[in-house]
Amino acid sequence: MPKDENRNDGPGFPADFIWGAATAAYQIEGAWDVDGKGESIWDRFAHTPGKVRGGDTGDVACDSYHRFAEDIALVKAMGLGSYRYSIAWPRVQPGGRGGANPKGMDYYRRLTDAVLEAGLRPLVTLYHWDLPQELEDAGGWANRDTAARFGDFANLVADGLGDRVRHWVVLNEPKTFTSTGYWLGVHAPGRSDPRAFLRATHTANLAQGLGFRALKAHRADCEVGSAFDVAPMYPKSPAYRDIAAAERWHRFLNLWFLLPALHGRYPDGVLPVEEIDDLLGFLPGDDQRIKAPFDFVGLNYYSPWLVSDAPQGCDIPGLNCIGEWARGRGTLPKTDIGWDIDAQGFEDILLRMREETGNLPIEISECGAAFNTGPGADGEIDDQARIDFLRRHLQAMARAMQRGVPVRAFHHWSLLDNFEWAEGYSQRFGVVHVDFEHAQARKLKASGHWYARVAADHAIR
Ligand code: NOJ
Repeated sequence: MPKDENRNDGPGFPADFIWGAATAAYQIEGAWDVDGKGESIWDRFAHTPGKVRGGDTGDVACDSYHRFAEDIALVKAMGLGSYRYSIAWPRVQPGGRGGANPKGMDYYRRLTDAVLEAGLRPLVTLYHWDLPQELEDAGGWANRDTAARFGDFANLVADGLGDRVRHWVVLNEPKTFTSTGYWLGVHAPGRSDPRAFLRATHTANLAQGLGFRALKAHRADCEVGSAFDVAPMYPKSPAYRDIAAAERWHRFLNLWFLLPALHGRYPDGVLPVEEIDDLLGFLPGDDQRIKAPFDFVGLNYYSPWLVSDAPQGCDIPGLNCIGEWARGRGTLPKTDIGWDIDAQGFEDILLRMREETGNLPIEISECGAAFNTGPGADGEIDDQARIDFLRRHLQAMARAMQRGVPVRAFHHWSLLDNFEWAEGYSQRFGVVHVDFEHAQARKLKASGHWYARVAADHAIR
């Protein structure tokens, strides 16, 4: 709970509150084919003309593969306590099977050692969307076998890093990578197959259970969660049918990977009971396999959704009752990527998720905004819009904490400007500016200085 420090300049946070910053391998590392790394679905997708804005790729990105020491020094210079980063699966297992590629594992050992030497807590994500292409060629997440492959990968990583890392995120945004990759076709692997999407969600849940158990088997005292993207689902009108549609979306988008982990079952009222086994490929015993009794839950928050009923249905078989949605409420100001700025939505979804998580500790695994402010004449990056966004969202988080939501950490997305998936380098989310034209030079933005003060004071000024 934030404590009242009798300041009139903003809420205070507990002294042990953890301030952090987050990144992901494909978005920052570059070195896409170095030291035995295999091809990932994002390498293939970005190398396919027309898939990513401006033809951008992650081939070089922020070059963090070679410059991770600078990244870590920046996290330390800001006085943060936690660095969240991910492991590129095809660096460790180039084809998604077999033993570990020693050079790939060695990179993550060196990176982790540097994080620890800087006095930071590593929060390591096992999967942030870069599936080995060879596994996609065998059906990808729509193929149930991918869960077993992921279990093997989790074992290798636990073996290689488990002595150094205590805090893990199994999957990053399983809703996003299954829906954008297999249903909407806008992210790798670029498939538009609703049935494959539903199967992929179940494979991801099986993988989550296997990954959880692999990590715990190596080190019983580790703390494991996943990072779920959550959004408050506001009904478009006060009509009952829109309220009911918003509730269905909440269950589908916010709970589809959480309830299986915590309770071994899917949310009710989304898929027809008589078809659910077939649609998901759910086998006897899967209720136990999908369980992952997390130590904490990671939540990523960006913007709210507006939902209305869609009597005409949608393109997912069996899911035609779910309703239509739009990312945004229509009237709110937006970030440069076009998403609503809605700090109240953050407070609302935190309160709702506390009910769903049974009061487990919550880490904000990501929150941030795209603002593309560049250097001024003096070379400084004066991104006041990000500071304003952050101030509002941290205040909203503090209000939720005062109302009893057990948030223990906040990770800003992102540490660095980086490869924003299908948007390429057009959207900047970092508190550190990266000059992609000039050797990936890094420079702390005004927001980075501001965030450092929040972390130092445990208070929002
Ligand atoms: C969530 C994803 O985890 C991250 O990779 C992405 O860059 C941010 N959202 C912003 O879209």
